Amino acid sequence: LETQVAIVGAGPAGLMLAHLLRREGLETIVIEKRDPETIRATHRAGILEAGTVDMLVDSGVDGRVLTEGHEHEGTSLRFEGRSHHIDFQEAVGRSVRLYPQNEVFWDLKEASERDGGTVFWSVDDVAVHDVESDRPGVTFVDAEGAAREIRCRILVGADGSRSVCRKAIPEDVRTDHFTEYPFAWFGILCQAPPSHHELIYTRSESGFALISQRSDDVQRMYFQCDPTEDPDDWSDEQIWARLQECVSGPDGFRLQEGPIIDKTVLPFRSYVCEPLRHGSLVLVGDAGHTVPPTGAKGLNLAFCDVRVLAPALVALLRDGDERPLAGYSGAALERVWKAQNFSYWVTRMLHSSSEDSEFDSRRQLGELHAITDSPYGRAYFADSYTGWQA
Ligand code: DHB
Repeated sequence: LETQVAIVGAGPAGLMLAHLLRREGLETIVIEKRDPETIRATHRAGILEAGTVDMLVDSGVDGRVLTEGHEHEGTSLRFEGRSHHIDFQEAVGRSVRLYPQNEVFWDLKEASERDGGTVFWSVDDVAVHDVESDRPGVTFVDAEGAAREIRCRILVGADGSRSVCRKAIPEDVRTDHFTEYPFAWFGILCQAPPSHHELIYTRSESGFALISQRSDDVQRMYFQCDPTEDPDDWSDEQIWARLQECVSGPDGFRLQEGPIIDKTVLPFRSYVCEPLRHGSLVLVGDAGHTVPPTGAKGLNLAFCDVRVLAPALVALLRDGDERPLAGYSGAALERVWKAQNFSYWVTRMLHSSSEDSEFDSRRQLGELHAITDSPYGRAYFADSYTGWQA
């Protein structure tokens, strides 16, 4: 097979890139290890920055994000048993939208089918070749078991945090920047009415918890746990007890409980691959960088990469201008590091560790008050959370 841009990975980053390139008349082929139903059933985060929503709507993916997503004009940071509201609109004049990432994926998949995009699902044995040449390739076994090869001008690795493509950047040119955290998230879906109309990020003596929503009768919540925790060791009663403990306070706030229909432990770390381009290979999204989930930046950052990369590929493949692509890694990494900082900072500010001293927890509370008690602190949080416009 021959194409201009071969994309490994049909998650939101890979499909969005293919969608934008197709609109510019460029040829793409996307390959993906999983099948669409499995991806749709994998629960991921749900907060979209305004710029992410605009990309979906302006490029004609679908308006479902507007009709089925919910605008959130603020969020609450809860600590010492009290909620502190941060009004995004008041602080920076922007909002975010709650619309699950697996639905973003589905909308992009539908748009690809509608527009005649080529995607090979359920492929295996993916290997990339000749990334230092002008004719890189990718080999794989398709869903019917046939060996296939794609040759292209540019190969894009959009294959997630365990990227195969990334490994094609030789170790002497690649720097892996990362940091680990001594905790993970226990994520649940439950059948219950919403406990609140916006997200609540809470820091408590029992650790961090995040209260999110999915619909009128399904809710998404997380609490801090040990990375080695086995979800099956937790009964519904134990889970609800922990979550209630995390949010309890003098205001008497309680979560609406219901049957737990999904539970997963999500370990996380911060990672950046530098550079994001080597020869004819380019990385986007989690393949190039992963952030802890606390700042809700993962998908948004992937879309930012795509927003920089798509015009650079158009310049190269239509006009023969290599300069925008040469600037891709530097330009994308600038925002990546801002998001790394925000995600690290919010994670550290809200989680607790068994090694924390009394000094550490008091300092953490001081940091939270410095954000919530001042219009400048709230504006800093809101500007970062809703996605920097500059
Ligand atoms: C959700 C997940 C996040 O990591 C986050 O920061 C906000 C919301 C969610 O699943 O709804």
